[in-house]
Amino acid sequence: MELIIHDNYEEMSAAAAHLIINSIKSKPNSILCFASGDTPKLAYQLAGEAAIKKNIDVSKSFFIGLDEWLGIPPGNNGSCHYFLHHYLFNSMNLASSQFHLFDAMTTDEESECKKMNHIIDSKGGIDLMVVGVGMNGHIGFNEPGTGIQSNAHVARLDEVTKIVGKKYFNNEVAINKGITVGLKQVMQAKTLLMIANGKKKAPVMRQAVEGPVGIDFPASLIRNHSNGILIIDREAASELKTK
Ligand code: F6R
Repeated sequence: MELIIHDNYEEMSAAAAHLIINSIKSKPNSILCFASGDTPKLAYQLAGEAAIKKNIDVSKSFFIGLDEWLGIPPGNNGSCHYFLHHYLFNSMNLASSQFHLFDAMTTDEESECKKMNHIIDSKGGIDLMVVGVGMNGHIGFNEPGTGIQSNAHVARLDEVTKIVGKKYFNNEVAINKGITVGLKQVMQAKTLLMIANGKKKAPVMRQAVEGPVGIDFPASLIRNHSNGILIIDREAASELKTK
């Protein structure tokens, strides 16, 4: 794993955006799988702006939403669906044939997972996976203890995820279950980019970078990825022993 520490959120986001744009430039038919959440907001905005400014052809790329809150409609601005459209898809002017997102309103969760697995497999796997890290070390909704061989699945959300998750919603909503691309698919991505910022992520980064590697703290698994890149800001790095 490569660890890169930037001075602040803006520089961390610019570095992540650069990597996203480079991935598309070097392989125009890239398959990209992206998390939602507070961390990647600016990176996606910058990537969208750079694509327009530098006239990058994104028309052959395909985007996958990493996860979704089950039961939260796509129009809710706390949904991952809303987030990805708002921060990335709209600015990149993507056609609907260029992305696949989990349907949070599905009545058939199993076939929703199968659909995602089929899309990832039929496209030859994910080129670039961009993830944030939960306060409990989760990646996507791969909560602590999730099997390393998991494909897309429905997850019963951890208490920490439910509490922290309230920040995304304007109104009180029931968030009990999530649907997510699995750890096996995360680990099989050709490049795994993980980003984290802010003081509150410092203990999380300490555990990910210096704690034991394993499913009890999924973010630590990036250390087993042959092309894992962890880009964080100075605040998130502030509790690391090895800088
Ligand atoms: C959201 C997702 C989550 C977040 C994580 C960090 O799509 O996959 O795993 O990446 O909870 O969230 P933020 O960035 O809000 O701190």
